[in-house]
Amino acid sequence: MQVHVDQDRCQGHGRCYALAPDLFVPDDIGNGVETAGGNVPAGREEGAEVAVANCPELAIVVAGGEPS
Ligand code: F3S
Repeated sequence: MQVHVDQDRCQGHGRCYALAPDLFVPDDIGNGVETAGGNVPAGREEGAEVAVANCPELAIVVAGGEPS
């Protein structure tokens, strides 16, 4: 599973890095950025899905099942 924050959509609400700080971090203006190149570690899929579900801007894009 991979995640990516669409910077054109992100408005810096910060829920992603509050809810899943291992998967997302803020950049210098508070927008979310995926960690580890967006690769979600095994067992953290639920955390990624919580972040996706809580982003008000629908800015977090999920790609694929396995890291490429
Ligand atoms: Fe941005 Fe959504 Fe996170 S607006 S900071 S990707 S909760």
